[in-house]
Amino acid sequence: MSLLVILTGWPAEPWVERVSAALPGRRVDTVKTLVDRSAVRYVLTWRHPPGALENLPNLAAIFSLGAGVDHVFADPRLPPVPIVRVVDPDLTTRMSEWVVLQVLLHHRQFRRYDVQQRDRVWREDEAQPAARDVRVGVLGLGVLGLDAGRKLQAVGFDVAGWSRTEKRIEGLATFHGADGLDALLARTDILVSLLPLTPETRGLLRASLFAKLPRDGRVGPALVNAGRGGLQVEADILSALQTGVLKGASLDVFETEPLPASSPLWAREDVFISPHNAAVSDPDTVARYIAAQILEYERGGELRNLIDRARGY
Ligand code: NDP
Ligand code: OXD
Repeated sequence: MSLLVILTGWPAEPWVERVSAALPGRRVDTVKTLVDRSAVRYVLTWRHPPGALENLPNLAAIFSLGAGVDHVFADPRLPPVPIVRVVDPDLTTRMSEWVVLQVLLHHRQFRRYDVQQRDRVWREDEAQPAARDVRVGVLGLGVLGLDAGRKLQAVGFDVAGWSRTEKRIEGLATFHGADGLDALLARTDILVSLLPLTPETRGLLRASLFAKLPRDGRVGPALVNAGRGGLQVEADILSALQTGVLKGASLDVFETEPLPASSPLWAREDVFISPHNAAVSDPDTVARYIAAQILEYERGGELRNLIDRARGY
């Protein structure tokens, strides 16, 4: 029984090589080398073309090569087999590094001093607020949101988080559901988004939400989004920046990726842009993670980190 690796936008070779090494003796194909569709037992996907997983009669599971699975659900002709996502300490750590960096960037007004350095200007600003006086709101208290929230707390920020279902997390203020969102926003200077993209969360980061962020904070309001580009309305981010409703933004994900050269976001000094690499999936660790799951499953164990199709994440 073989594995099929189908990727768009990422090179397939490192994945085929690492998965073959992690599962010696197994056949690992790409679409180009696949001859026998009935031999395929597992698919490893990153943005496979819609319909590409049809006609695999012995398919047992789909593995997303990322933590997010909106790319899997973009296929309306998905076979009805379990979907597993990546939950990996390496990926989690990378994301928390990026989030802590971005929150500190807004907190310490890095972009302002960047511009001053470029212009050879020596100008001190008003007092720098302490991290404890800066309120960070984390949208999404899953694997990534919780880790980032804890690390932001360790730096000293006043952190709270928001999730779909109610949570009790020691030492962390939590809010949930549509009703809890306004309360979280009302105590947020820097808003961090680590939500999955689902029908419920699409377009959440828009003008009406930005308007609910307080203007009396020591820094911000600022937006940090590494969840998915579909969560944000970029035209609203731009006008919020132009009108001062937002003072800055850090974006790793975009409505259209790669971000088109024509996007006005590129030119803004109050925006930090990274190319959807806040937390990349490392082929070595992810291949080992998938191989371990397959071996356990074939010994009669359960697949872990399964997606709930009804929830969409
Ligand atoms: P999890 O599934 O562990 O956590 C998702 C969190 O979002 C949960 O707390 C969940 O609530 C919450 N949530 C989902 N829907 C809603 C909603 N409608 N209202 C409120 N809260 C909601 O995901 P991860 O933390 O592992 O990953 C989050 C996302 O990060 C991924 O889906 C992916 O899109 C993105 N990502 C981006 C990367 C990058 O490089 N930019 C890399 C990796 C991931 P509850 O706890 O109640 O279920
Ligand atoms: C992911 C990603 O979902 O890289 O893991 O965006």
